Amino acid sequence: MKLVTAALEDGIHIVKVNLGNRSYAIYIAPGIMDRAGQLIKRHLTSIQRYAIITSPEIYSIHGGALCKSLDDTGIEPSLIFVPDGEESKTWDEAGRVIGELVDLGIDKRSTIIALGGGVVGDLAGFVSAIYLRGVRFVQLPTTLLAQVDSSIGGKTAVNHTKGKNLMGAFHQPSLVLSDPNTLKTLPREELVSGLAEAVKYAVIANTKLFNALEANIDKLVGCDISTLSELIARCCEIKARFVELDERDDKDLRAALNYGHTVGHAVEILSGLEIRHGEAVAIGMSVAARLASSMGMLDPAELDRQEALLKRIGLPTELPQRMDDKTLLEIMHRDKKVLDGSIRFVLPTGIGDPTTIRSVPEKLILRALEDSRREA
Ligand SMILES: NC(=O)c1ccc[n+]([C@@H]2O[C@H](COP(=O)([O-])OP(=O)(O)OC[C@H]3O[C@@H](n4cnc5c(N)ncnc54)[C@H](O)[C@@H]3O)[C@@H](O)[C@H]2O)c1
Ligand SMILES: [Zn+2]
Repeated sequence: MKLVTAALEDGIHIVKVNLGNRSYAIYIAPGIMDRAGQLIKRHLTSIQRYAIITSPEIYSIHGGALCKSLDDTGIEPSLIFVPDGEESKTWDEAGRVIGELVDLGIDKRSTIIALGGGVVGDLAGFVSAIYLRGVRFVQLPTTLLAQVDSSIGGKTAVNHTKGKNLMGAFHQPSLVLSDPNTLKTLPREELVSGLAEAVKYAVIANTKLFNALEANIDKLVGCDISTLSELIARCCEIKARFVELDERDDKDLRAALNYGHTVGHAVEILSGLEIRHGEAVAIGMSVAARLASSMGMLDPAELDRQEALLKRIGLPTELPQRMDDKTLLEIMHRDKKVLDGSIRFVLPTGIGDPTTIRSVPEKLILRALEDSRREA
């Protein structure tokens, strides 16, 4: 999978996110965790303390390597555990973590290190954004989804019972260290879930990436580390460029990254968070592509190609039968992707072609939802 143009240093892919004084580097390489201490020291000057936020499960697998590498800096890290799973991304949990930061004496000269998947990253990022009106933080993503997507771009948030990510802030990390070796311990279904976001990038921005995904499915799903490293670097490059153009998501450019998320978030919520984020996004992309095709914007052959790739990866593309359309619509109305009362969709116009963002009439949404079930 030869796709990456990101700078390479000692076999390490380095992707820069250029945002003026909020710029940072993403390092992607197997084993980079062992150099975390050295790199944090290089990139974050005058650090006096670290607080690692992670879950007990993730810490038991990868915490040892991180702490050993932080030894190089001569500063002993403090540890804050959050329970595993999406249920941790709450206002209450953020408040509890902040209480621990206060008790530990974490101040402006400290840095927070998020070790984990998107849940830990979003929560730790949110806490870093609001604690003392903002402290620096480093992302050490350990799921594919977090390595290709959630650790980059500075969107941090917690969920509300009425919707996902309803309370959040933009707060860029100071450094991202992605170690694809951590994916060796990731359950296969989590790896597959992360691939949904890679398909998203390919459809909204890069035909070559789509071709490479089609050609490398076995290696990717089989956790071939070198293929995954190339994929992560490519996805980071694509996301970095969108974020640079529209950091705060207010110019309708970064919004393309929400492809599949209008319906995806609603499916995730309605499943009681039983359906993984990436799986829900796969279903959401399928509905959005169907919608685009029914509106004459997407060639049906391209819709079929996307559908085939998602299925070959092992991702769901059909809405669960039990999910009621009216409830899905209600949840979509509460989500952030609504403008002037109408639900907005990122619609593909071809694989790798720029997307269009449109308010879509409910009648068409309902038909696409129905179609997505009928073919199940
Ligand atoms: N901020 C953003 O831009 C953004 C983008 C996409 C998704 N997200 C958010 O990301 C979250 C989903 O993230 P996720 O898919 O990483 O889920 P997750 O963080 O819940 O991790 C999935 C599971 O994998 C386990 N795990 C993590 N790393 C592991 C490893 N190396 N080995 C073994 N097990 C490991 C975790 O303990 C957890 O049980 C959602 O809340 C979503 O909203 C945010
Ligand atoms: Zn997502």
